[in-house]
Amino acid sequence: MILIKSARELDLMRQAGRLVAECHAALAPRIRPGVTTAELDAFVEDFLRRHGGIPTYKGYRGYPASICTSVNDEVCHGIPGRRRLREGDVITVDIGVTLNGYHGDSAWTYAVGEVSEEARRLMEVGEACLWAGIAQAREGSRLGDIGHAIQSLAESHGCGVVRDFVGHGIGRRLHEDPDVPHFGTPGTGVRLRAGMTLCIEPMITLGDWRVTIDDDGWTARTADGSLCVQYEHTIAVTDGEPEILTARVA
Ligand code: MF3
Ligand code: CO
Repeated sequence: MILIKSARELDLMRQAGRLVAECHAALAPRIRPGVTTAELDAFVEDFLRRHGGIPTYKGYRGYPASICTSVNDEVCHGIPGRRRLREGDVITVDIGVTLNGYHGDSAWTYAVGEVSEEARRLMEVGEACLWAGIAQAREGSRLGDIGHAIQSLAESHGCGVVRDFVGHGIGRRLHEDPDVPHFGTPGTGVRLRAGMTLCIEPMITLGDWRVTIDDDGWTARTADGSLCVQYEHTIAVTDGEPEILTARVA
């Protein structure tokens, strides 16, 4: 069942989304060669709690940290630890918060120092895929329109779209109906309505879309070892332009 949010609920979602956006903005300058992913995790947990939020992922299905840090060929759900970032890495930081009972969720891939030309290009394609998906999130469109826009753009650049992880509805719970695949057929699937709140979070690879899961039970990485990026926003469907609830703040 897809929940339609009231004006009051949308306001609470805006507050949760804004906190996630502010947290990304505060974190970004700390993503540098030499920092460990555990240090980034500690910074985010402290930031969210100081602002009245709870890091949603911590303990979610047994997940052991406040954020996901997925480096290079890691696709998502990388667990923060002693790993030190190195010049040329790309790292996806995924942040989720619970604030006043509602959720915000946003992932972004950051360059660590100077990165290769192909990494830079992949980041551009990945972010463009997010925006292409968001552009389809309008009242009357269908879920397949979102997936198709993302998949066709990625594949036109020779990139792969991860199938095993999809976007989702979000609200009082981190994961609500519907699933939001980042691939699909236009004109198919559930029809979108104003008041739906969705996470669109394409994972785009420089190679094949297939992934494997590490022995830690969480870390997903590309089966072919290719680089992967991910860009995620929490958005609200309206009767006009989609509203980006986790839009980056200056
Ligand atoms: N953005 C991811 C998602 O929507 C992050 C979840 S991490 C987890 O599923 F630890 F909470 F699973
Ligand atoms: Co998400």
